[in-house]
Amino acid sequence: MQDLSPNPADLEPIEIASIDEIRALQIKRLRKTLNHVYSNVPHYRQSFDAAGVHPDDLQDLSDLARFPFTNKNDLRANYPFGLFAVPQAQISRLHASSGTTGKSTVVGYTAGDIDIWASVVARSLRASGLRAGDMVHNAYGYGLFTGGLGAHYGIEKLGGITVPMGGGQTDKQIELITDFKPKGIMVTPSYMLNILEAFLKAGRDPRETSLQVGVFGAEPWTHAMRREVEDAFDMHAVDIYGLSEIIGPGVANECVETKDGLHVWEDHFYPEIIDPETGAVLPDGEEGELVFTTLTKEAMPMIRYRTRDLSRLMPGTARTMRRMEKITGRSDDMMILRGVNVFPTQIEEQVLKVPALAPYFQIERYKAGPMDAMRVLVEPKSGDMSLQALAQHKAELETRIKNMVGISTDVVVGDVGSVARSQGKAVRVVDRRGE
Ligand code: DLL
Repeated sequence: MQDLSPNPADLEPIEIASIDEIRALQIKRLRKTLNHVYSNVPHYRQSFDAAGVHPDDLQDLSDLARFPFTNKNDLRANYPFGLFAVPQAQISRLHASSGTTGKSTVVGYTAGDIDIWASVVARSLRASGLRAGDMVHNAYGYGLFTGGLGAHYGIEKLGGITVPMGGGQTDKQIELITDFKPKGIMVTPSYMLNILEAFLKAGRDPRETSLQVGVFGAEPWTHAMRREVEDAFDMHAVDIYGLSEIIGPGVANECVETKDGLHVWEDHFYPEIIDPETGAVLPDGEEGELVFTTLTKEAMPMIRYRTRDLSRLMPGTARTMRRMEKITGRSDDMMILRGVNVFPTQIEEQVLKVPALAPYFQIERYKAGPMDAMRVLVEPKSGDMSLQALAQHKAELETRIKNMVGISTDVVVGDVGSVARSQGKAVRVVDRRGE
């Protein structure tokens, strides 16, 4: 793999400013944001009043804990534009995410917001090892999803060459990557595995592509998956995190030179970790639910938005700003089986430890009498394995899951191609409990 470490001169001064400078900027921006929403968004005025807090109460960053949380239900209750803090004439873009239940949630941006968004994605791409003049193949979906356009504007802001491919049409993806020779690729990690499979099917060596770095996000993925993709393509794999409610991709990103967690771009997004049960703020280092407050958003600022993503905060390394650990999972994806919490990422890690199994998997939840149970669908790497070998791999994965997670599961090793392939965000868990 090529050394893609940045030239320190290419970093923005704030990325390597002192902690004191960053905290001072945050408090200034936070005060402004609190006043902005209190004056312009009835929902915030009511919720602050109900909690007995006023923007003037914020003297220190720790005072933020006195302000109420915002959650997905608040977005739904104010659908579509109730949380906008500027007149509609100042809105220049809408995006929406389709929740698994109920109406989609809508987010809005001013032209200034779009510019900041492009800047944080450009910063993320620089952290990933990309530079002005580099070509980036963008396979995040375009449209209401923030992935495609968020990445697109970021690549342009970086001064790169955008290939606006979007999701799907896997054969076309292979053709363009082969012919155009991009240096970077932006795509969900699960769809990258499809691209890998298509390369192998076409008899091409993925290690021979021009790709030097993949900027993967929009879904949880493990260090084991990083190794899998890095080995397969002989490229760096770095993690990009974000969510529509906060801005889209580019809230946090790993640095290619360290790959030790994602630096949160704290000059724009203030992170907290809370205990999901009590709502109490936890000290850095402790695992809990990530909560973000936007510090510069104009159209739709978010105060203490509960992401339901689980992580922990750690001090900065390659940059001053704090890091968040790779997301373990969403509280929504957590399964409780016989009292044990299980995340799809834990299963991913074990699947990838069995070399004869392909890196695709899906989990089915079902009822076994009164209890919830889990079945893991996987497939072999090659179609010519003996029944005895297949039985061995099934037993190995069952044992690994039992040892790691502590519960017995049924592993089903299907035919090659039997596990559903992802076109964007992978569906890791299928709920069959009602069947
Ligand atoms: O997925 C934004 C995005 C696009 C991020 C492209 C990165 C790359 P939403 O559709 O609103 O926005 O989904 C946000 O996806 O709360 C997490 O649960 C999950 N997620 C996003 N990035 C990561 C990541 C985009 N790097 C939700 N690791 C978030 C784990 C992620 N989960």
